[in-house]
Amino acid sequence: MATVVDAPILVLKAQDLAHTLLRNLPERWQHSAGVAQRAEQLTGTVSNPADAATLIAAAWLHDIGYAEDVRDTGFHPLDGGLYLRHRRWPNRIASLVAHHSEALCVASVRGLADRLAGFTREDTAVADALTYADQTVGPHGRTMTIERCLDDMLRRHGPDSPNAQAHSRRAPLLRAAGRRVEQRLSTSTSTPLALGSRSGAGSAAGWTPARDDSYSESGLGPCPMLPSSGRAVHCGG
Ligand SMILES: [Fe+2]
Repeated sequence: MATVVDAPILVLKAQDLAHTLLRNLPERWQHSAGVAQRAEQLTGTVSNPADAATLIAAAWLHDIGYAEDVRDTGFHPLDGGLYLRHRRWPNRIASLVAHHSEALCVASVRGLADRLAGFTREDTAVADALTYADQTVGPHGRTMTIERCLDDMLRRHGPDSPNAQAHSRRAPLLRAAGRRVEQRLSTSTSTPLALGSRSGAGSAAGWTPARDDSYSESGLGPCPMLPSSGRAVHCGG
């Protein structure tokens, strides 16, 4: 069971902003709440409470670029990062949002790599955990395998989309991040922290995670095996 601690102001502000911007996009709001809840479960993979708060705040905010009030270039990771930077959120949060889930691969296809390069891409446990959380929660907050999530993404965006064009380069990077997070989880002795909301990320959103019943349970919930490694990996959209 997670240890409940006082939620940092950063996380509460992130949750409130995400709710304000995404309240008219219920699918995206449910997904964001699910990703934040997943991020809470992954705090044992990062090194300190500050990183944990950064991870959960970024999880709440990672998809605000879909909001009408945030949309600029039409590429949601970049738009989210630009919005947060303009409003003087911490650079690290803005950059994690801008680069979440290997956004650079898609940005390159869309001709936006130069603009995304204005944000620092970090190769850290926090970035891995954010990507992992995003890729283990589907559009409505349903947990799913990474392969199912990738299939869902390709179906939603279409075979000729920038996402599809970036797929061969991006998918291996997403899977590798998943393996690193699973490795850290297997060796972590830290207790996950419930930092994500006033009463937990899921309940705060009026949301409980929809589960794919075809998957077995482990410490984090549905837990399919990743064929390439034989390790249990959660995957999603
Ligand atoms: Fe997402």
